[in-house]
Amino acid sequence: MEPALDASLKDLDTDYLDLYLMHWPSPFARGSTLTPKKDGKIQTGDSNYVDTWKAMEATLKTGKTKAIGISNFSKAELERLLSHASVVPAAHQIECHPWLQQHAFTAFHKEKGIHIQQYSPFGNQNEIYSSGQNIGKLIEDPTILEIAKKYGKNGAQVALAWGIANGHSVLPKSKTPERIKSNLGGDFKLEKEDLEKLNAIDKKLRFNDPSGNFGWVFYKDLEGKK
Ligand SMILES: NC(=O)c1ccc[n+]([C@@H]2O[C@H](COP(=O)([O-])OP(=O)(O)OC[C@H]3O[C@@H](n4cnc5c(N)ncnc54)[C@H](OP(=O)(O)O)[C@@H]3O)[C@@H](O)[C@H]2O)c1
Repeated sequence: MEPALDASLKDLDTDYLDLYLMHWPSPFARGSTLTPKKDGKIQTGDSNYVDTWKAMEATLKTGKTKAIGISNFSKAELERLLSHASVVPAAHQIECHPWLQQHAFTAFHKEKGIHIQQYSPFGNQNEIYSSGQNIGKLIEDPTILEIAKKYGKNGAQVALAWGIANGHSVLPKSKTPERIKSNLGGDFKLEKEDLEKLNAIDKKLRFNDPSGNFGWVFYKDLEGKK
């Protein structure tokens, strides 16, 4: 694992990372590319995420990382990791938005002192999510738009404010300068009555699940698993 970390440090032209995440609990075959493929198919590996975590813990001692965390773990996988870990993950990066709220799972993190980072905070706005096509867009949900109107905001900003109100970091992505600027306006406080309205629009819709391609069944015990 350390050679991969060194390669990232070199690419980023830095001596250390503030936060280093294990992207998936599932292993890929060893190789010089991120996801080694054979005949166009992703090759899986035989390493174990607990061993990877131990190697990540060691990077804290070298100063190459300041904090370490995980991404895309199920509750059972996280519990197993915690039972072997010397260091509790600083953060867990998960798909989370008003249509996939996962309150019990996020409360479990709070209890363990693990910070939640929400990826895909706009849900099916990411156009690669085929399961999110033909169902309307999260940021155009009527409840979200009604609340947006009240605060003079847009739907994307309300989706971000919902995550922030829950104590999470939100990770919106845009390559459009006006949107990048506008998304900063998602850092505002929603009133309790609006949070309650937003909590009621949960559809338990998970858009990111590469289980088939990665040879691993992700999110087994989580909301939105099909
Ligand atoms: N840990 C993981 O496994 C994982 C998985 C998925 C994503 N992520 C990370 O999470 C971050 C965001 O995820 P994401 O890209 O899936 O989701 P996202 O930020 O919810 O959605 C991105 C899409 O929303 C559009 N968009 C951005 N701001 C908008 C706005 N104000 N109004 C309308 N559309 C807007 C973007 O378009 P334009 O770019 O064209 O403006 C893009 O198509 C990324 O940094 C990504 O690397 C992590």
